[in-house]
Amino acid sequence: MENERCEGCEGNSEMQDILNKYIQDKSNLIQILNEVQEYYGYVPEKAMLEISKYLSIPMAEIYGVVTFYSRFTLKPKGKHHIAVCLGTACFVKGSEKILDRAKERLGIDVGETTADGKFSLEATRCVGACGLAPVFTVNNEVYGKATVKMLDEIIDKCMEEGC
Ligand code: FES
Repeated sequence: MENERCEGCEGNSEMQDILNKYIQDKSNLIQILNEVQEYYGYVPEKAMLEISKYLSIPMAEIYGVVTFYSRFTLKPKGKHHIAVCLGTACFVKGSEKILDRAKERLGIDVGETTADGKFSLEATRCVGACGLAPVFTVNNEVYGKATVKMLDEIIDKCMEEGC
């Protein structure tokens, strides 16, 4: 099937450009969502509506996929995106304490972004670095054998530098 412009995409050329790369097949959902996440920094509701029309997939199904995979977010991520691993190895080594500390320091819950856009917080499943448990990441940098003190120092540094 040839690509067609999706109904309702007028005026949103970025979404059209993304959708036009793919045939209207449900199997392209994850790839389209990946592109949307990368382009916007999150998956806006309007984008989900357009994907829903384009691929003829119910919104509830798309929402289910977006909320299932931790790489997709419904809100823009902060400049410093902190992700604390709650996989088994990390959990038994106390990663929940690190997550609790991050919530306390930043005043946000999992899935949220601070009002100034500087920090966002996520709880992830195993990130494949179990030997370093407990682990958290800041953007793509991995911090292993993590402690609450280590997290505090990183947050302090980011806040002091005003970055
Ligand atoms: S469980 Fe945390 S890295 Fe594997």
